Amino acid sequence: MVAEVVETMRDIPAGVVVDATVGSGGHAEALLEAHREISILGLDRDGDAIDRASQNLTKQNLKNSRVDFCHLRSDYLKAELQSRNIASISGFLMDLGVSSEQIDIEARGFSFRTDGPLDMRMDRTSSLTAADVVNGYEQEQLAEVLAHYGDERFARKIAKAIVSARPVQSTAQLAEVIARAVPQSSRRGPKSFRNPRSSKGHPARRSFQAIRIEVNEELRILKDTLPQAVDALEPEGRGVLIAYHSGEDRIVKDFLRWAETGGCECPPKLPCQCGAVPTIKLLHRGARKPSATEIAANSRSSSARMRSFVKLAAGCESETNSETDD
Ligand SMILES: C[S@@+](CC[C@H](N)C(=O)[O-])C[C@H]1O[C@@H](n2cnc3c(N)ncnc32)[C@H](O)[C@@H]1O
Repeated sequence: MVAEVVETMRDIPAGVVVDATVGSGGHAEALLEAHREISILGLDRDGDAIDRASQNLTKQNLKNSRVDFCHLRSDYLKAELQSRNIASISGFLMDLGVSSEQIDIEARGFSFRTDGPLDMRMDRTSSLTAADVVNGYEQEQLAEVLAHYGDERFARKIAKAIVSARPVQSTAQLAEVIARAVPQSSRRGPKSFRNPRSSKGHPARRSFQAIRIEVNEELRILKDTLPQAVDALEPEGRGVLIAYHSGEDRIVKDFLRWAETGGCECPPKLPCQCGAVPTIKLLHRGARKPSATEIAANSRSSSARMRSFVKLAAGCESETNSETDD
């Protein structure tokens, strides 16, 4: 959703924009080209992504004083800004989840379509791997991960099958164990399962997502990052958050609702009595979705849900109605 991100950030004040999930630098590049008054601080917890983004922007002659990169997890944002003497930022972007590069490199172990090691770490210097989860967790704990982070209906059956198959050695073996555990009748259309380019109907899709989220502590880190981002933004600064699954989007939506009301819990439609102060205003009611053209060009974008907001000056009332959302 590059065009939507650029459009949302068009009117931000001059200053530093933090791209907290810089990946290959696609969004960073588009923002630098569209907005002459900003510089970008690009973070990624994957060191390989930082190298790639740096190379890509060098090729485009955009790697100059207007861009800097840092191998860092987004929940260290506040400390990083302090260490760089950056008092406030004018934009904040998070394009969550894994990158196509991470999925496509077999050796990273993210894909159920190829045969790689059980790794799935976004940051290869971190300690917990998919092998630790798959071969080390208690059956109950594993079932909880699958149910909670993958919304997997057959979590218990799958966890039992994984435990019986231990030690599971590779992503292909794991995908096969999961596929066998899911009742045949519950698989989506046989066509999508057979099509190697389609991941939608694959019985291992939800379990792989869940294990990846567990390995990378994605939801906890997201929860810890969002308040830091809103705090760091200057008035009129903007934030854009792109989520790819319901667990991520729920955290984003709940946090934005909380920030939009300042945490007010007074009865809806009555004037606020508790003195809560809104810190942001939503720019769109509900989530924006990628266009049909973007989905046709990149099927992985189809689950993207983008939410954006503007930071309010202290004491400024938001006019939005916080009742409806999706
Ligand atoms: C969907 S890709 C981003 C693609 C990027 N917008 C681009 O234009 O190339 C997600 C990237 O964010 C990184 N990432 C995910 N969660 C992160 C976090 N909490 N902190 C830092 N990096 C994160 C991943 O390692 C991955 O490289």
